[in-house]
Amino acid sequence: MGFWKTWFSTSEPATTTKTTSWEEDTAETAGNSSTAGVSGTSSSEARIIFSTERDIDLYELEELCDAVGWSRRPLRKVKKAIEHSFLVVSMWQVRGNKRRLIGFARATSDYAFNATIWDVVVHPEFQGKGLGKALMKYVLKKLRSEEISNVTLFADPHVVDFYRSLGFVSDPEGIKGMFWYPQ
Ligand SMILES: CC(C)(COP(=O)(O)OP(=O)(O)OC[C@H]1O[C@@H](n2cnc3c(N)ncnc32)[C@H](O)[C@@H]1OP(=O)(O)O)[C@@H](O)C(=O)NCCC(=O)NCCS
Repeated sequence: MGFWKTWFSTSEPATTTKTTSWEEDTAETAGNSSTAGVSGTSSSEARIIFSTERDIDLYELEELCDAVGWSRRPLRKVKKAIEHSFLVVSMWQVRGNKRRLIGFARATSDYAFNATIWDVVVHPEFQGKGLGKALMKYVLKKLRSEEISNVTLFADPHVVDFYRSLGFVSDPEGIKGMFWYPQ
């Protein structure tokens, strides 16, 4: 698995620094492990890595979702949703041997034609640095690598433009998303 990484200034906290460069790690030996690429990193450097590992601390994920004001969901159902997702992508800030979950997205799929992206989130301290876009591009790249060609999502009204900037279109050819809820 390749993963994206970026380097932050070592002298400033990550919350105030800007992303300075992007590169894609080409070490295919890294597998799915987000920690595999960390060896040899000095403890003063922080970098961002993406992972498709599903072994995510549910409390850490809950904290991330709390930070953006999402309603809490039963953890046993979140666990099940992660287990049954087609793709799970987490984004981590790694400093030395410490890592912090700062972003997340997952996709469900029929494994052939369609995938739907859910739960896209970047921690507020890391928003506005291009990481949400990088996370989504990573998800799309992974889906394309599985030859999934029809990717959908449900956008909250305030993030429609975020998804538009990534190439998503609303109501293509007048097609409407429809929902059914129990009465
Ligand atoms: C939506 C979210 C993932 C965006 O992450 P981010 O890291 O702040 O986004 P980026 O910095 O990568 O922004 C990428 C582009 O989208 C734009 N953008 C970001 N958030 C936006 C928003 N809410 N509305 C419109 N445009 C937005 C940025 O200005 C940027 O534009 P540019 O490429 O022209 O510079 C993040 O704000 C978030 O987690 N929000 C809370 C959870 C949420 O609402 N998730 C979506 C559920 S459908």
